[in-house]
Amino acid sequence: MQNCKKLIEVAMPIKEISAESVRDKSIRHGHISTLHLWWARRPLPVCRAVVFASLVPDPLDENCPQAFRDAVEILLGKANNVGDPYKPYDDIPYTAAIDKMEDNHRNRLLMFIGKFSERFILNEKLGKKTKSKFLLSDTSLIKWDNKNNEKIINKARKLIWVAYNSSTGLDTKTLLHQFEKYYQSIKDAENALHETPDRHIKTDEVILKEKVLDNSINEFLDKMPKVFDPFAGGGAIPLEAARLGCRSYGNDINPVAHIIQKCSVEFPQKFGKPITYSKIEFLKLFGQDEWNKVKNENLVFENGIAVSINITNRLSFEVGYFAKKLLTETENEIGQFYPANERGNKPIAYYWAYIGQCTNPSCHAEIPLLRQFYLCNKPDKKVYLSPFLNNKEILFEIKEGICPIDNWIKRKNLKCPVCGNITSIDDLKWQFIIKLPF
Ligand SMILES: C[S@@+](CC[C@H](N)C(=O)[O-])C[C@H]1O[C@@H](n2cnc3c(N)ncnc32)[C@H](O)[C@@H]1O
Repeated sequence: MQNCKKLIEVAMPIKEISAESVRDKSIRHGHISTLHLWWARRPLPVCRAVVFASLVPDPLDENCPQAFRDAVEILLGKANNVGDPYKPYDDIPYTAAIDKMEDNHRNRLLMFIGKFSERFILNEKLGKKTKSKFLLSDTSLIKWDNKNNEKIINKARKLIWVAYNSSTGLDTKTLLHQFEKYYQSIKDAENALHETPDRHIKTDEVILKEKVLDNSINEFLDKMPKVFDPFAGGGAIPLEAARLGCRSYGNDINPVAHIIQKCSVEFPQKFGKPITYSKIEFLKLFGQDEWNKVKNENLVFENGIAVSINITNRLSFEVGYFAKKLLTETENEIGQFYPANERGNKPIAYYWAYIGQCTNPSCHAEIPLLRQFYLCNKPDKKVYLSPFLNNKEILFEIKEGICPIDNWIKRKNLKCPVCGNITSIDDLKWQFIIKLPF
């Protein structure tokens, strides 16, 4: 492998990665970007593609281990295998002439990372647009929807496994068999631990099962490459490396980034797992009110009486529970300062603006310096602040639809909505200069 180039050094499906990366920026639900803002976070499809392509060899390189080429054939199909998902394009999209892509191992790897869907290719020919979620084929590694697709993610893990362990001289079938064995032992150890009721109490049984799980994870990770991102920021690279089954490390000089990395890469792996609580323990930890909210389908009954509860994700349950608790306690302490409106809705955010004063001596209206009035301006949802006057006082109501109001600030000058007078930018600036008493 030493003299063999990595896939990333020779080819990458750039257009496909770009297409899914643009989509990645608008995904909210379940995306790490919603956990905490990080300004320079790289799109997840790029990170998944880059980590994968840095860890596998170029199959067309003469020094590429045969075991890896065989793994590509076993996992991604081979030439003349018509109708298969990783068959290279008959005509490469975005090229003017009919441009057939050769059906070889390298191109199959590229198609595995990201391949445009048939729907997109057809629409492109017809000059029609395709929704971003349908741009890539459902079998592409980097597609958002495949982030937890064990079948597809495991193909990537297996390819990395074979590449990393090919120096042992074992053939592909044996290496893949080993992968299954190590992978299954993690699953078995996880199941054994997660099925143990009240596993939050460190009994001898729980400690032993945790140790077995730790060992099986370490044995698996010892056979996978280590990925270290010394400037990991929002954690996109360590997250994708961990998803691909690698021993993954992140580091950052900024403590906020460090906490983001712990919360998005480490804690979900450690704590985001199922747990079963006996009723007694659940009541001790979360109280009767929480028990009353539990859905029947999560309860375990004995002789018609609920005796325990299965929680599918301990971390999300507890984050939800403690967040509500914090909210209730905060509400009790300072809720009176945030009164509800006539419909009972509490404010969740305040919109703040500087106030400028109209320079017309007979007006002097106080005007919030808003550049525009939209609170939400998306193609499918538009909500805006609609100003109205109460004598010289400017008040607002919230309306839906396209905002018909002209902006008050034009070329940095302020047009008074009460009298129409223009207050220049220089006059406005003077209003914000603190006048010292000397
Ligand atoms: C461009 S960001 C990385 C973004 C990251 N790839 C992601 O997807 O979120 C660069 C990061 O390097 C960190 N950094 C800068 N100097 C550093 C240093 N000397 N040691 C560790 N981290 C450093 C910054 O705090 C910043 O988070």
